[in-house]
Amino acid sequence: MRRIAIINQKGGVGKTTTVANVAAALARAGQRVLVCDLDPQAHLTLHFGLDPSDDTPDMYDLLTGSASIAKARVKVGHNLWVVGASIDLAAAEVELVSIVGREVVLQGLLDQHVGDQKDTPFSKYDYILFDCPPSMGVLTLNGLCGADEVIIPLQPHYLALQGLGKLLETVQLVSRRIHSVLRVSGVAICMNDAGTRLAAEVVEDVRRFLADARGTAVPWSKARLYESMIRRNIKLAEAPSYGQSIFDYAPESNGATDYERLAQEIHASSCDQAASQEISASDDAASSETASVENASVENASVESASSNTASGRPHHTDPLAQVIPLPVSATASEHASTSQERREISAPSHSADRTG
Ligand SMILES: Nc1ncnc2c1ncn2[C@@H]1O[C@H](COP(=O)(O)OP(=O)(O)O)[C@@H](O)[C@H]1O
Ligand SMILES: [Mg+2]
Repeated sequence: MRRIAIINQKGGVGKTTTVANVAAALARAGQRVLVCDLDPQAHLTLHFGLDPSDDTPDMYDLLTGSASIAKARVKVGHNLWVVGASIDLAAAEVELVSIVGREVVLQGLLDQHVGDQKDTPFSKYDYILFDCPPSMGVLTLNGLCGADEVIIPLQPHYLALQGLGKLLETVQLVSRRIHSVLRVSGVAICMNDAGTRLAAEVVEDVRRFLADARGTAVPWSKARLYESMIRRNIKLAEAPSYGQSIFDYAPESNGATDYERLAQEIHASSCDQAASQEISASDDAASSETASVENASVENASVESASSNTASGRPHHTDPLAQVIPLPVSATASEHASTSQERREISAPSHSADRTG
């Protein structure tokens, strides 16, 4: 099972659109997918046609301990479940402030949910995706700690690379202090204005930046720039108002083509060592289960190697962020915290909110 947080502290870069459509593409291809809306704006919830103001328990109820994932998840399609959000979730940021281990509440709930029924298909997922808010507060930290991987949607704009650097600092801090397996799997270019010089330059800069990190001990040392870049496409902006994924709303559009390819690439990246495995259009449960077992073993191998890299010491001297990331003495405590209970008791860095949209 892969757990992936889609994060970017900037708003309007394509996080929600990416979670909704990658999840839909994976589910259509036979993968069992749970998506979690961690944004009080509830755009992902709306995108799946759910009403954030109805009585269904949602992410707020989960994080404040009054509902279980089994109760809160809503089936929105074949192989696809959503834990929705509502504006109430904004209050969770405040309510969780005084809770010890507030960053790992969701991680604990997911572990329990998946572990509880591990011999039944009830809570068996191939993918859990988290749509994070445009801020670096406790909700995003819950997404990062609930996940093992991060995918960063990026709009190829001026200063995009600077924003990326800041984001990676946060991922590195979380990986050092709380959740050592966390690594960045890739950067997805969204709303790409293909053919413009600015977009091409930013894409090239990101490619070079990621290439420079290869072989270093940073959590993004194996991150890839996905070849499937999401073109600007009005159908992608229209689909949420119909509560549909792009595959239901406009299956022939460029948006559908781009997100299907991106999902294939994300899926294939977990099978790299086992051979490049394309997502089949089949939703045959048996073949899906076989694939997920294979994924899990490749996944564990790469998580272990990423984690041992992280634990191996400070970043390589060529790491451009090495100079700017503070590493407090207590930061290494989580590297010695072997149980999730121990990890839970280590406080996360406090980040000031940077809500930009
Ligand atoms: N490739 C695209 N082409 C056109 N519009 C897009 C595309 N991706 C996203 N949008 C639209 O841009 C807006 C911001 O996207 P969204 O996914 O909500 O960003 P975020 O979650 O990062 O705030 C939304 O109105 C969305 O429908
Ligand atoms: Mg969003």
